[in-house]
Amino acid sequence: MKQKNIILTGFMGSGKTSVGVRLSYRLRMPAEDTDKLIERREGRTVGAIFAENGEAYFREQETALLRELLNRKQRCIFSVGGGTPVRPENRVLLQQLGKVIYLRTRPETVYRRLKGDTTRPLLQCRNPMKRIEEMLAVRGPLYEEGAMFTVDVNKLRQSEAAEACIGYLRSAGCAFA
Ligand code: S3P
Repeated sequence: MKQKNIILTGFMGSGKTSVGVRLSYRLRMPAEDTDKLIERREGRTVGAIFAENGEAYFREQETALLRELLNRKQRCIFSVGGGTPVRPENRVLLQQLGKVIYLRTRPETVYRRLKGDTTRPLLQCRNPMKRIEEMLAVRGPLYEEGAMFTVDVNKLRQSEAAEACIGYLRSAGCAFA
């Protein structure tokens, strides 16, 4: 399939889903969230999948879903889970799926936005700030490597982040933006 999808990547709390919805309005394209697609298919939350089957099982579901999405005919905006681009195989699949945009956040931004959140199993620990810093240090370069554009969203509202994405897509000559 020709690359007509838009993929939003980034750490938990970077606003992928909300920015995806904004882009959906602006570009008149449907938006999907891969965590939600997995939850719907499994009939349980990401938290329950982690608790009952473990992270490795969840990661298998993510990769399997990306393969399936390659066969979709309708173009779409996909917001993917924060861990999806970590697997090299997934970074290749994401690039095959569409234009990948990385929404970059600092650890402090993530911490502020997700303080008290109970839906992210990987941040349910004694020191979430330290965990966020450690994970971002590892993942940051992988997000960058897997993306066509990076939008620093630390100081942007969701609408501004969406406009920045559209600006990048236009500069790359994407007819749909
Ligand atoms: C994860 C991010 C989550 C979800 C799961 C694991 C991660 O998605 O896929 O909890 O490894 O960063 P969001 O980035 O949408 O929160």
